[in-house]
Amino acid sequence: MANILLILFLNIVSAKTSCFHRYLEEKVDFCSCDHPIEATSLSAFSFMEAVLLCSMRCSQIAGCVVYNFFIATNQCQLFNQTLNKFSVLPGCINYFKNDGENPPIIRPLTITVDNELWEFYLNGNNVSVAKHFPNARFWSIPDTYNLTGGIQVIALKTYNYQGDGGFIASTSDSYILTNATWKCSLNYYDGWYKIYYNDSFWPAAKNAIWPTSTNYYPPLSKAAKWIVDSTDCKNCVLYCRKNVIGKFQNICNNFRYRILFKIRLFFVSEYVEPNGCL
Ligand SMILES: *[C@@H]1O[C@H](CO)[C@@H](O)[C@H](O)[C@H]1NC(C)=O
Ligand SMILES: *[C@@H]1O[C@H](CO)[C@@H](O)[C@H](O)[C@H]1NC(C)=O
Ligand SMILES: *[C@@H]1O[C@H](CO)[C@@H](O)[C@H](O)[C@H]1NC(C)=O
Ligand SMILES: *[C@@H]1O[C@H](CO)[C@@H](O)[C@H](O)[C@H]1NC(C)=O
Ligand SMILES: *[C@@H]1O[C@H](CO)[C@@H](O)[C@H](O)[C@H]1NC(C)=O
Repeated sequence: MANILLILFLNIVSAKTSCFHRYLEEKVDFCSCDHPIEATSLSAFSFMEAVLLCSMRCSQIAGCVVYNFFIATNQCQLFNQTLNKFSVLPGCINYFKNDGENPPIIRPLTITVDNELWEFYLNGNNVSVAKHFPNARFWSIPDTYNLTGGIQVIALKTYNYQGDGGFIASTSDSYILTNATWKCSLNYYDGWYKIYYNDSFWPAAKNAIWPTSTNYYPPLSKAAKWIVDSTDCKNCVLYCRKNVIGKFQNICNNFRYRILFKIRLFFVSEYVEPNGCL
């Protein structure tokens, strides 16, 4: 016991300055379903102590960038990646570190649209097409855009005139590839580009029969396909999404917790807003 208390104390003393931000999109909390690098039950602590300890632990552990905190049980799960798989679970809140200590992964995405790319969203954020996709209106010239950090959802609005349509895209590591796992709708829906948009009723995209990546654009992965909406529409606006984390999971995997019994963190007397900095 004494050792654990000492370790906790040293952790507090030596905790580096870190800021954690709650992962929310329009008041909806996300919960990471990835495999944690560490999972601990802090059931012996108060809620405030436990959140604080979880933040400190994440500041301390090499590679920790995100944690889940379960409000009812004070379970703390640490992750070395941001929300690759996620769920929305009652009582589970997610915090990510935002202090520049862990340079985010950059994945260059090469894309070309037949005929035009109109809007592009990464994780619900509007990325300026005018600024980042100079060839948005040239179907035979691809653009490359750096996807930075965790990728949850890519959404695009495109326009197709008569003739062949659709688009093709891939990252250099093939993490993102256009194929029939994308979804495309001809209808506009509010919030269609957001992470927390339920696209389960959207039809799957269809692989187009025309050009393959190998015919045209060397930066594109050979595994990427030209995709169109399920009706292969003409003169239409198309809304397409790739949910990288798949469907929301109803339940995350259960991970084993290390239980810290009967320890009281007596020296934490003030509430520290977990959204702030330690
Ligand atoms: C996260 O940790 C796992 C297991 O230790 C490791 O295999 C993986 O490469 C790590 N990922 C990152 C982004 O550091
Ligand atoms: C995203 O930006 C484009 C270009 O400014 C704009 O036309 C579009 O309406 C924006 N989308 C949203 C959802 O605000
Ligand atoms: C994209 O990232 C690479 C490094 O991976 C960098 O060399 C390049 O300048 C970046 N491109 C843009 C447009 O920021
Ligand atoms: C579709 O692309 C994803 C990468 O985003 C890849 O993991 C998956 O295997 C591909 N599926 C098919 C059927 O090609
Ligand atoms: C998403 O919508 C489908 C019906 O379109 C519904 O069955 C499912 O429960 C919804 N998922 C969530 C997480 O709301």
